[in-house]
Amino acid sequence: MTVTETLPGSEGAVAPAAPVLEVRGLDAGYGASAVLHDVSLTVPRGSVVALLGPNGAGKTTLLRVASGLLRPTRGTVILDGRDVTRARPYQRARGGLCHIPEGRGVYPSLTVRENLVLHTWKRTVDDATERAVANFPILGSKLSQPAGELSGGQQQMLAVMRAYLDDPAVVLVDEVSMGLAPVIVDQIYEFLGRITQAGTSLLLVEQYVHRALAAADRVCVLTKGRIVFDGRPEDVAEEVFEHYLGVQQLTSDTGLGRIENCREEWPP
Ligand SMILES: Nc1ncnc2c1ncn2[C@@H]1O[C@H](COP(=O)(O)OP(=O)(O)OP(=O)(O)O)[C@@H](O)[C@H]1O
Ligand SMILES: [Mg+2]
Repeated sequence: MTVTETLPGSEGAVAPAAPVLEVRGLDAGYGASAVLHDVSLTVPRGSVVALLGPNGAGKTTLLRVASGLLRPTRGTVILDGRDVTRARPYQRARGGLCHIPEGRGVYPSLTVRENLVLHTWKRTVDDATERAVANFPILGSKLSQPAGELSGGQQQMLAVMRAYLDDPAVVLVDEVSMGLAPVIVDQIYEFLGRITQAGTSLLLVEQYVHRALAAADRVCVLTKGRIVFDGRPEDVAEEVFEHYLGVQQLTSDTGLGRIENCREEWPP
């Protein structure tokens, strides 16, 4: 679906809406260690963009820069048409950006209900709790338990709920499948499918290439801090699969296609 809007001052003219998230020409790193080099990436409104690449490529670093946890040394971050490069993370959150970090993004010593309460600024506690239980019924019997006592899958269910309760425009999801059983990953992806159906955009970092490509409208491949492919999932060349992602091209018998043993030296 193409979303359009009328540009101010250009009565009647219809132009594509601004991307919900855009990064342009980013350089970023940690101290003297440069990680991202001139990275540009766009998340069109209402789309799912998969960000793939081998370990250490800089995927998490890119999400941190986008959400304001790390300041770039060069480049621009644009959220919903506004330059937020210098905005604090909470300001970006208020502007519609939600970051679900690598690992379990929950507070382990707080109960499940208390974790949900942290995301009730737009709704009541009862409403938030009902929505969480409607999406993941297992959480209903755990509301009074410390989140740290939940299984890994249940913690991830709780973590992704903020992508629903905060009503974000765009969600950055970092390795949501990490360490989870396939049946739980299916449930998490069904949830992500529901929120994207409702219009939320996703920037999805995922180690299971084929699962990410199945969900994505666009795919960006990052290696050694540089974007080496940006296009449609069906246009990812076999060389990109094999040399940058370390998996065989999508076939019925290639399973989940986990990124591993990548030969980053290609092309020579
Ligand atoms: N806090 C940090 N301080 C210093 N270097 C870091 C820090 N975090 C990451 N790095 C380095 O930055 C580079 C990119 O790391 P990053 O975590 O962004 O990669 P990634 O693509 O998310 O990898 P993975 O697939 O393993 O999650 C790596 O060389 C990593 O060692
Ligand atoms: Mg990472």
